[in-house]
Amino acid sequence: MKITKTKQSRINDVDFSNLVFGTQFSDHMLIAEYSNGSWSEPEIKPYGPLSFTPAMHTLHYGQAIFEGQKAYYMEDGKIGIFRPEANAKRLNHSARRMFMPELPEDLFMEGIQALVDLDRQWVPKAENHSLYLRPFMFGSSEFVAARPSEKYIFCIICSPVGPYYSGDVKVKVEETFTRSASGGVGSTKCAGNYGGAFFATDQARKEGYTQVIWTDHANHELVEESGTMNVAFIIDDTFITPPLSDRILAGITRDSILTLLRDRGIVKVEERPVKVEEVVNAAKEGRLQEAFGMGTAAVISPITSIGFRGTDYAIATPQDGYAMRIKKELTDLRSGAAEDPYGWMLKF
Ligand code: COI
Repeated sequence: MKITKTKQSRINDVDFSNLVFGTQFSDHMLIAEYSNGSWSEPEIKPYGPLSFTPAMHTLHYGQAIFEGQKAYYMEDGKIGIFRPEANAKRLNHSARRMFMPELPEDLFMEGIQALVDLDRQWVPKAENHSLYLRPFMFGSSEFVAARPSEKYIFCIICSPVGPYYSGDVKVKVEETFTRSASGGVGSTKCAGNYGGAFFATDQARKEGYTQVIWTDHANHELVEESGTMNVAFIIDDTFITPPLSDRILAGITRDSILTLLRDRGIVKVEERPVKVEEVVNAAKEGRLQEAFGMGTAAVISPITSIGFRGTDYAIATPQDGYAMRIKKELTDLRSGAAEDPYGWMLKF
């Protein structure tokens, strides 16, 4: 792998005690290019602008996918990337559905480790902080004919971050707009799934909410996921989360939480369709003990209220509840304070 180091690090320009999510980037980035049916040797070089023409394919047709993952500063002074193979696999799931070339997993794994290793000083040490890693791929051919791109660029950039949500997370059950439909691209991390969500989210923000809870496209009866995270509820001492489908992103945090809950017998788990009505009724009857979002950026973010048809239902999600307990188990595993029986951390 070709590595060209920056002449002058920018790290001293960054106030690590005041990080705004995803706005500052480490010294280096990784780039690999695809053309004529194969990927080039990846290159690590100083973070900086890419150049392209106005006919660059992805600007017109949106063959663009990404991942979100994190590197942590661990108690023994090592750096650990959380479940990178899972991200490599999910990127390729997105690539297949978006008719883009798959990226060899070893290129992804070796590339991300080499990049984070080079920029290891950028991994924040403070609690609840990490280096957010953003691998992404996009069609880079220069033509505007509506057919798949022939060239692609894969890139990884890194951003030191603190918590994604600060303060209350108030969600609104969305019954007008739809994030995804059966047979669509909802299970991929394609750029359009996020771009397409901004309008509805902004409408909800104007009404005082932080995010929307998406519901199924057919009847708006089933809970699907929230803005940037999967969702779960604790009702009657049972952890309930919607099952994966081609409309829902297969969250790696979601999967990790389900694994921990099942293996450690922390609470009864049900992965099954969840009706909005069930959640609202449980809230009305005082049986909705907790609600929270699960995601790489969001980690585990307690939802403090759910708005449905003009009424807001407050949710306590106590400090000694299930969400906070699971968060601690996950945080301890990531920091090295607890064992990692699954080999989830790629440490170096
Ligand atoms: C992540 O959790 O990594 C996400 O993809 C959310 C992001 C859009 C901020």
